[in-house]
Amino acid sequence: MNSVFNYKVEWSGIQNRMARMFNPKSGRSVMLAVDHGYFQGAPSGLINLRETIEPLLPYCDAISPTIGGLKTSIDSRTRTPVIIRATGGSSMRRAEELDDEIVTVSVEEMIRVNAVGFTASCFVGLKNQSKTIGNLTSLTNIAHRYGLVAIGITAVGSDPALTKFVKGESESGAELTAEDKKDAIKYLKHAARVLSEDGADIVKTYYTEGFEEVVEACLAPIVIAGGTKKPTKEALDFTYRAIKAGAVGVDMGRNIFQNEHPVAMIQAIGSIVHDGKTAEEALSLYNDLKGKKKQG
Ligand code: 5RP
Repeated sequence: MNSVFNYKVEWSGIQNRMARMFNPKSGRSVMLAVDHGYFQGAPSGLINLRETIEPLLPYCDAISPTIGGLKTSIDSRTRTPVIIRATGGSSMRRAEELDDEIVTVSVEEMIRVNAVGFTASCFVGLKNQSKTIGNLTSLTNIAHRYGLVAIGITAVGSDPALTKFVKGESESGAELTAEDKKDAIKYLKHAARVLSEDGADIVKTYYTEGFEEVVEACLAPIVIAGGTKKPTKEALDFTYRAIKAGAVGVDMGRNIFQNEHPVAMIQAIGSIVHDGKTAEEALSLYNDLKGKKKQG
């Protein structure tokens, strides 16, 4: 009944955008990250971006491309929410300067392409920490005027000390020591909390053992990146552990598009994120699906 007393509920644009990115049943999200080219050039698995993305799009809740990737390789009739990579300016040609990032996409451009939000890499603890955190905050201050979602990424650049902790890769390839693992938690807790205190609506970080502490310390919901390509079982395992530890999803790239069977892999990841499957159940789904000829 139309009545002057049926006041409209306060409409929230950012809530509506979050609702598009996150599955209403599970409350979680499988975001496909395909923005690596902004600093890696043409990484394997993303050489033909359109070919890589097309078969995976139906299985992700959101996609994270660069602005160039979006405009050249994703059909604008897609109903999949787009999260634009909005910082960059570095490249592997000067890997030692990966933390020297600037804002590369304006909020006006995000609105023009109808993005639901953006990602900004913040190199906490590195030389350009204040500049890159400033990229996140300057974009967030404007993006929030228009209800766009701000995702801060705890990036590690090429700092070998951080890389080994955060991505579980010791330089020698040996198992990380207990000390290494403790340092990883300490760093990730610190970095994730900093980004959430600085206004990120969602923090994207890496999984490491003891991840519960990182989730607890962060004021914002967390999604995990996958990091460098791991064996399928290992990738499903850390996805399961991250979700169990409280992550609200993944914003994952290489462990999906560089997998031998990407379409099977994204569905296996989705079974963990949305259907509560264990890593073992997801692996068996992966093995069933990879056998199907039309899968990637
Ligand atoms: C670096 C990024 C990626 O989006 C992020 O690392 C997720 O990708 P992956 O799962 O491959 O690590 O911010 O480009």
